[in-house]
Amino acid sequence: DKGNHRHFMQKEIFEQPVVVAQTLGSYLRPLAGEVSLPIPEFDFTQIRRVTIVACGTSFYAGMVAKYWFEQFARVPVDLDVASEFRYREPVLEDGGLALFISQSGETADTLAALRHARAAGQKIAVVVNVPTSSMAREADLLLPTHAGPEIGVASTKAFTCQLAVLAALAANFARAKGRLSREEEQEIVRHLAEAPAAMNAAIAHDDEIEALAPLIAKARDVLYLGRGPDYPMALEGALKLKEISYIHAEGYAAGEMKHGPIALIDEHVPVIVIAPSGPLFDKTVSNMQEVQARGGKVVLISDAEGIAAAGEGTIATIEMPRVHPLIAPLVYAVPVQLLAYHVAVAKGTDVDQPRNLAKSVTVE
Ligand code: F6R
Repeated sequence: DKGNHRHFMQKEIFEQPVVVAQTLGSYLRPLAGEVSLPIPEFDFTQIRRVTIVACGTSFYAGMVAKYWFEQFARVPVDLDVASEFRYREPVLEDGGLALFISQSGETADTLAALRHARAAGQKIAVVVNVPTSSMAREADLLLPTHAGPEIGVASTKAFTCQLAVLAALAANFARAKGRLSREEEQEIVRHLAEAPAAMNAAIAHDDEIEALAPLIAKARDVLYLGRGPDYPMALEGALKLKEISYIHAEGYAAGEMKHGPIALIDEHVPVIVIAPSGPLFDKTVSNMQEVQARGGKVVLISDAEGIAAAGEGTIATIEMPRVHPLIAPLVYAVPVQLLAYHVAVAKGTDVDQPRNLAKSVTVE
């Protein structure tokens, strides 16, 4: 049932604050300021390496998790898309945790990768939305997302719930490794608990994003730039846009622009820049200015401080609430989803059933 919404995708975007809160509810104890996983005690101290494998949007959640696991737990992380992982002869040593991320729990490549990792002696952790799925059944550590059924083919709420679980997992891991003080853990829990309200504040900018959509709908190519844990949001924004609006879009690490993609810039290519305030802001903005200097039409997604500092010369700005860098990926996922959604509606495509795509890819 779509309720008051025109499409399932729109409904699922709007549901995110609720389902992310629901998911966090089984991973955080906010009053105690503690992270707690919904699994039996597991000894993370024995884990020497993490291998993250997924496809599509779930892979981008894994990309964000790599930043978090490295930053918080100081554990080496290997990351790959499932279709590459299976065939590249990965080196899987004892003491490895293999982490699979999937909405459906049935994606053929990811499931085959899971079985490959199990045969190679890895502990198997699964972040999955469908609790009765094959991946859920085959997990040693089952980490459910509580997004509820996702009907729109383009994944939205499952993605942000995956990020919520992965942030909690990274914090838990870090604590087990003795790398997180009580105070740091309390801080992380506090920031994560703020995510649903911040996502609501992001959704409140829906009208502005809708107003921008006709302009983007005219483009033949769109670029997305981000850095650090927000770089995967650039990739996700581009994937969402191409999936449902059929506009060619690419996401790049902002610092990679000058190594090639900047040659694409002219006045016909909108460039969506994802730049929350934080340690990487100035770096991203200097890449953005390189784009502007070549006539690029920039849409800056940032908070009030960021827009005040760098909004000059952009064609539009989309203001997000000021958030801690830890939760920025959850919050900045919202405007890129909404932008893809409204551009697709403006183009009149079938938003919930885009051409050539299936909700669950059960063939290789
Ligand atoms: C993008 C999308 C796909 C899926 C991918 C993995 O909007 O929906 O890229 O993310 O097919 O699917 P799951 O997560 O079910 O393994």
